[in-house]
Amino acid sequence: MASKMAWGVISTAKIGRKHVIPAMQNSALCRIDAIASRDLATARTTADELGIARAYGSYEELLADPAIEAIYNPLPNHLHVPWTIKAMEAGKHVLCEKPIALTAEEARLLIGARARTGKVVAEAFMVRQNPQWQRARDIVRSGEIGEVRAIQTMFSYFLTDPANVRNQADIGGGGLMDIGCYAIATARYIFGAEPSRMVSVIDRDPQMHTDRLTSAILEFPGARHLTFTVSTQMSPHQRVTIMGTTGRIEILVPFNAPNQRPCQIIVDDGRDLFGGGARVEDLPVNDQYALQGDAFARVVRGETELEFPIEDAVQNMRCIEAVFRSGATGQWTSP
Ligand SMILES: NC(=O)c1ccc[n+]([C@@H]2O[C@H](COP(=O)([O-])OP(=O)(O)OC[C@H]3O[C@@H](n4cnc5c(N)ncnc54)[C@H](OP(=O)(O)O)[C@@H]3O)[C@@H](O)[C@H]2O)c1
Repeated sequence: MASKMAWGVISTAKIGRKHVIPAMQNSALCRIDAIASRDLATARTTADELGIARAYGSYEELLADPAIEAIYNPLPNHLHVPWTIKAMEAGKHVLCEKPIALTAEEARLLIGARARTGKVVAEAFMVRQNPQWQRARDIVRSGEIGEVRAIQTMFSYFLTDPANVRNQADIGGGGLMDIGCYAIATARYIFGAEPSRMVSVIDRDPQMHTDRLTSAILEFPGARHLTFTVSTQMSPHQRVTIMGTTGRIEILVPFNAPNQRPCQIIVDDGRDLFGGGARVEDLPVNDQYALQGDAFARVVRGETELEFPIEDAVQNMRCIEAVFRSGATGQWTSP
């Protein structure tokens, strides 16, 4: 690739400031040239802190910057699709945060925008760029743990600040949208299939009305199950266990993976219940957000195709919607 791809970031979102921007600034193929905020002073301060050359006091001004090739969109969930479409129509490629939309129907608008503009658009599920997930999928495909029957996913944190976007029901807050989306996306990734039906139990916060505890079973073809629990009001924890007929893989920090030390997965041949057949695999130190930015840049440069086109994001939204539907009706439902 001749030169690094020039990115602009719409908003001073925490995920951008703390993780994605610094990672992409250290990546092989990306540079961050501009940032926009609804408030110019906030944009300027953030740009200075992060060493970004240009700061804009509105998202529109950033989209009008002809030197910007791609936009990273970490806006709150209800603004993902509207601003992604505006950016594409302004001639930019867009990497948009998860979950891609509020509904599958809204997500489908991006398929039309892609056709109209010819721009690359993708959902920022950085975990699928992380070598620990790719290694887990390779082990599954190799047959080392037999036939995979079940995936069990736990993801929780404790956050009751009503001002946080995660605690605002009307703009796409709640546990299923924020972190349940990972449980679903990664099971679809490992199984390489779509769930046929699901059932769920949802407990909502009485004041904020967001789902604060959601548990679900998703049935995949071939009698394979994902069970997951996500919570916004539980002790912080994350773990994924992939159960095969002859062995097991455990991904220790599956989502907020470390970038300063190796990610670790455990592969256990199940010979006893005390880890006698378990080995720990250390993956080389990496930053999943840098890998994500570089993978996107390679697609824009025409070096490779998107592994997960926007249709995948629509499909993930269909599953999220079905889990919500089941939680409301108490019935099994299909995406
Ligand atoms: N991939 C990951 O690892 C990961 C991790 C965390 C979050 N996320 C996703 O990233 C997105 C942002 O999450 P976050 O926690 O970083 O959010 P955040 O800190 O609350 O930032 C959201 C930003 O959006 C802008 N904004 C515009 N309209 C807004 C409105 N009506 N209400 C609130 N903010 C508004 C604000 O920027 P300005 O004031 O500068 O305009 C605000 O700083 C979410 O979609 C979330 O799901 C992804």
